Amino acid sequence: MPSAKIAPSLLSGDFANLANECQRMLKDGADYLHMDVMDGHFVPNLTIGAPVIKSLRKHTDAFLDCHLMVAEPERWVDDFAAAGTNLFMFHYEATKHHEALIERIRNHGMKAGIAIKPKTPVDAILSLAGQVDMVLVMTVEPGFGGQKFMVDCLSKVRALRQAYPDLDIEVDGGLDLTNIDEAAEAGANVIVAGTSIFKADKPAEVIATFRNTINA
Ligand code: DX5
Ligand code: ZN
Repeated sequence: MPSAKIAPSLLSGDFANLANECQRMLKDGADYLHMDVMDGHFVPNLTIGAPVIKSLRKHTDAFLDCHLMVAEPERWVDDFAAAGTNLFMFHYEATKHHEALIERIRNHGMKAGIAIKPKTPVDAILSLAGQVDMVLVMTVEPGFGGQKFMVDCLSKVRALRQAYPDLDIEVDGGLDLTNIDEAAEAGANVIVAGTSIFKADKPAEVIATFRNTINA
């Protein structure tokens, strides 16, 4: 499987000090910065949009993994591309026009990703997964940080890994030192974590343990 990439979720950081929080995570070993975009419709919470990504881009060259938990993701491709997004991760459940959206994202110079919520069966994206740069299997209901990891979702990671040995498979929600072994064993290689990294005394050690477990 591809090598580990660790993507701290800035949702658990201090939004009023975002650039510094990003620098701190990169210094502690983060590969990607995971930016959670929520619109209050697709999920019952509201966070940031393209203007914040645009401002952040002036402070860092890091890979911005933008997780769009929004209805009608098509509406935001232009703005997120212009803002400097590296990967535009949309939800399977948020659109009916998956292939057209993937093409549009790529035409705007971004990598494309597709995410599924816990109740969405893996069959829905098994063939689409071959067309994207990354798949995200949610391991909590999207909307909030700090929720409990749903171990059942790992069967979807297993099915995807079996079908696509070289695909970047991301997991997001409730990941911590108690479940990273199971996530690795299932075949996840891109690890998003908010609470377990930001609330740690030594975030660098948590990031290193995640990486070593995936790469073992
Ligand atoms: C939840 C978000 C996650 C969240 C993860 O909807 O997509 O990225 O920030 O936070 P933890 O790691 O605390 O579950
Ligand atoms: Zn996320």
